[in-house]
Amino acid sequence: MILVLLGAPGAGKGTQAKKLASEYRLPHVSTGDLLREAVAAETELGNKAAGYMDSGRLVPDDVMLGLIDELLDRPEYEGGFILDGFPRTVPQAEGLDAMFEDRGITVDSILLLDVDKELAVKRLTARMSCPKCGAVYNSATKRSKVEGVCDVCGSTLATRTDDTRETVEARFDEYRRLTEPLVEYYAEREAFHSIDAGRSIEDVDRDVREIIDTGRGR
Ligand code: AP5
Repeated sequence: MILVLLGAPGAGKGTQAKKLASEYRLPHVSTGDLLREAVAAETELGNKAAGYMDSGRLVPDDVMLGLIDELLDRPEYEGGFILDGFPRTVPQAEGLDAMFEDRGITVDSILLLDVDKELAVKRLTARMSCPKCGAVYNSATKRSKVEGVCDVCGSTLATRTDDTRETVEARFDEYRRLTEPLVEYYAEREAFHSIDAGRSIEDVDRDVREIIDTGRGR
């Protein structure tokens, strides 16, 4: 099964993708996480991406398309995967369609998590995440049991450097300018669904699973 999660910064893509990965036993491909790992390891990709990410801009399409194209050939993705944060522009979506066509695979569900800017900014400026295992928390809606400590692995939680109000605003502007046009790109497809992501994590998860399970029985 192949799932694509679209949505603004703070819509809950990562949160829902992690739940779906565990519920459907699918690998979770987060382009944001892959880029952050590359930045931390100071690889060629990381060095190219760092400046864009720090200022809230999107990394160029050719870099992202190369990354995904290489990844889709790995054996661990043969049985399907969840794409979180890709595609993010119309050229990325066109490139992804071409990659799928070349490999004879089709996407099962394209899920837009829809959230308004005010709520997204509120969520992101309260987000904490674990630099070691990737677990995500929120000081308003999803606290760790011990403040500042990861429930899963016990590491010290950190705030993402691009979660300042100023950079979140810039990321949201990029979303509106470059990613929102994907709604029109995908609107006519049977696989495309828009979900109100302004509700609780559990409510969103329930709707997402209902859509996926209905689609599977189609
Ligand atoms: P990326 O890491 O993908 O960031 P993003 O898209 O801005 O999304 P976020 O991770 O901030 O939000 P999310 O929707 O995953 O929300 P989350 O579940 O964490 O990308 C970072 C950067 O990398 C980009 O700016 C760009 O530079 C670059 N990049 C990545 N992909 C790219 C691409 N394809 N092309 C070009 N550049 C690319 O939730 C947020 C918070 O809210 C958490 O605290 C969570 O606990 C809480 N929360 C989640 N859901 C709910 C809910 N329903 N109710 C209450 N709280 C909730």
